[in-house]
Parts: sequence; C-alpha cells; structure tokens
Amino acid sequence: MRKIIKPVTSLQGEIEVPGDKSISHRALIIGAMSNGKMNISNLANGRDCLSTIGCLEHLGIKIQKEQNRVVVNSRGLFGFREPQNFLDAGNSGTTMRVLCGVLAGQSFNSVVTGDESLRNRPMRRVIEPLQKMGAEIQAHNNNQFAPIAISGKKLNSIEYTIPIPSAQVKTALVLAGLLADGKTTIQENIPTRDHTERMLKYLGIDITSQNGGLDVAGQSEIKSKDIFVPGDISSAIYFIGAGLLVKNSHIKIKNVGLNPGRIGALKVLKKMGAKIEIKNVKEINCEPVGEIEVRSSDLKGTEILSEEIPSLIDEIPLLAVLTCLAEGKTSIKGAEELRVKEIDRLKAMASELTKLGANIKELPDGLEISGSIKFKGASVESFGDHRMAMALAVAGLVASSETIVENAEVVDVSFPNFFEILDSLTKN
Ligand code: S3P
Repeated sequence: MRKIIKPVTSLQGEIEVPGDKSISHRALIIGAMSNGKMNISNLANGRDCLSTIGCLEHLGIKIQKEQNRVVVNSRGLFGFREPQNFLDAGNSGTTMRVLCGVLAGQSFNSVVTGDESLRNRPMRRVIEPLQKMGAEIQAHNNNQFAPIAISGKKLNSIEYTIPIPSAQVKTALVLAGLLADGKTTIQENIPTRDHTERMLKYLGIDITSQNGGLDVAGQSEIKSKDIFVPGDISSAIYFIGAGLLVKNSHIKIKNVGLNPGRIGALKVLKKMGAKIEIKNVKEINCEPVGEIEVRSSDLKGTEILSEEIPSLIDEIPLLAVLTCLAEGKTSIKGAEELRVKEIDRLKAMASELTKLGANIKELPDGLEISGSIKFKGASVESFGDHRMAMALAVAGLVASSETIVENAEVVDVSFPNFFEILDSLTKN
C-alpha cells in the first residue's frame, strides 16, 4: 500500500495507543511458563505479538483470544510440548530471541525461524550465553543467523555480563535461568528496559540483586495473575512528534507505559524545548503508567550519546525527523545497533530524509543532522520497516506538499490502526 500524507494545519484530540509490544511478548511467554490461567488485557494488536501467540500455540499452549484480551492456560516451566513444525517468529526479534531461552531448557527439539529480515539479524548474542548454560543450539552460518535448531537440555546456571546492551538477550537468559539448576547471575553494562524484572516481581519472583545485577533462582514456580498491558510509548511517540511539529496542536495520550528504560526520547525532547507534560502517573502490575500531553513547540538541536541509546533505541527514526526541523545541529552517536534492526535504520533514515530535503549525514554509529530545513513532499520508502513508515508519515504532515510513503501497510507489525488514529486527530 502506498499512503499519501497531506500537510496538515493542526492536530487536536485525546487518544490511546495499542498495548506495549515489549510487555505483551513477555506477558504471553511468561504467562505460558506460569501455572494456571493468565488473563492479559490490552495486549498489543500488531503482527509481532501474533507471531508469539502462534509459536506458543505450536508449543501446546492453549490461548483463548477475545479482541485485545487473551487468556493463556499453562502448566508451568516445563509445560510445553514438542512442536510439529518450525516455529515462525515472523518479523519479531523479541519472539525469536526470548523463545530461544525458553526452548533451550525444555526436553524436546525445536527450530525457530522468521521472515527474510529476521533471518538476517544477529543471533549469536543469544546463542553463545545459552551454550555456556549447556544448551545445544545450531544456527545458520556458524551460529550467526536463524533458522536456529535447539535440542532442549537440562541447563546449568552461569554468571554472565551482557556485552551488547539488549533487553531481549537479558530476558532470554533470565527465562533460561528460571529453567536451570542453581542461581544464574546477569549483569548489564548499560541498563536496558526492565519489563521482565518488573513482571516477575509482580508474579512473586524478585530477581533484582543488591549490586544492580540480576540473580535468578532456578526452578522457581511462577503463579499466574492477571496483567493489564499499558499503551506503548514507542507507538505514542509518533503522535508526540506530530503534535510538536504541527502548529496549533494539542494532543493528550492516555494510559501510556512510562518505564524508566523506555522514556529516553521524552527526556531528549524536553531538553530540545518540547512542551510535553506527564500527568496522573500510577503503577499497574509494577509498571508506571500515565498520561502525556503535548503542544506544538519550537525545538532546538541536541546531542544523543551512547549511554542514552537503549532507552530510546526504537524512537531514533522519529527523533531524526524532528531534529531535521529543529534549530541547529544534532548528533546521534553510539547507535550502531540500528544497523541490525528490522532494516539498517541509519542508512534508511539518511536516504529517505534526504529525499524530503533534509541535511543529514550517516556516520558509522549514528547520524549528524543540520536542522532548520523545511521538508518538501517526495515519494519515500519504508523498506518494510514499521517504524520507518510511521516516522516518514509524521515528516509528511509538515512537508510543503504531498508525501507518498511506499509499503506503508508494514505499520501492521506494531500498530495496525496508526493511520486511523492519525486521521482522527486532523478532524477535530
Ligand atoms: C525489545 C528490545 C530492544 C528493542 C525491541 C524490543 C524488547 O531490542 O529495540 O524493539 O522487547 O526487549 P534489543 O534487545 O535488541 O536492544
């Protein structure tokens, strides 16, 4: 689908965004490892979470679906059954990496694969530490890529420091640690989103240790409890960005997850002069949730450094759009991980924003942007990446003429009703 984005003069309204994708994957997978029935409400409605549901069903887990609520019926840590076919993680890195941790410790064989983009994403980072735990895993091209073949084994505990910050790898190791004998200790050099730690705490298992690392006691039973998934800040960010850029705008987004490991973009935007207010924050299932109010703002360029990257990794495409229009220069450094996301997002943002008139330079590990430009309408490519499609659509709202986003249907991966909600804001 090619989506035509017309420039708009104002965005107004109160909206909600779909449930958080990271929390949804974890609720489904941890739910499947629990004992009993877990009701999950406001589950993310994109294709990625459907991939997780599909894999779990192939592993013998019964999941009842009613709109955006699901019930996961499970039989504990080892209550999975050998799948009859390959497990297809689709486009979802979280599904693939996190499931590796769970499958490594089962008593059967399985193979996980995915679409072409996912089969080109690095998997050694999760395979290697699992092998240290005694897992028997073989993957394509010298254990670099999916398909990944796993012969389930009894796992032993390890002490491990994660070299490349990744919440997916951390989660895979925590869940493998729950299946292992003894105490697994995990350290991170730069903290990443801690949804897994918070969810396990809510379910009665505290894995945080005094020294800032994680201590996972093997064979701990998880008791099912109901989970409400807050709105996804990584989806809300496109409306925050649009509200800041389009003149005469005022947008309220309710029920958004505000996990400290996910709000790096809000902090950067505030530093850039954004009028963003966070209100009515409360805790639901050990996760902070609140309301975000945004008003049109004049932004200034900024510097984004390595240690900030994990807390805003998925928001960089949108931040790149905003900084093209902000006054002054912006540099984003230490973001080489963006080259191994769904696509090479550094290369893609540089090429597509240049078509819209941006002054943007690709660095090996980031971007350098000279601001104060005005976007001109152009035809731009999502390259099959959902976050590219949404970021480029936001740019189109403030271009001097129509912008065409090619392959825009890919928003379905995380946010199927993205364009509907965007439309609703222009009609008030
Ligand atoms: C995610 C972690 C991040 C993020 C991805 C979701 C998660 O990936 O980019 O969209 O749910 O844990 P990495 O763990 O590879 O950094």
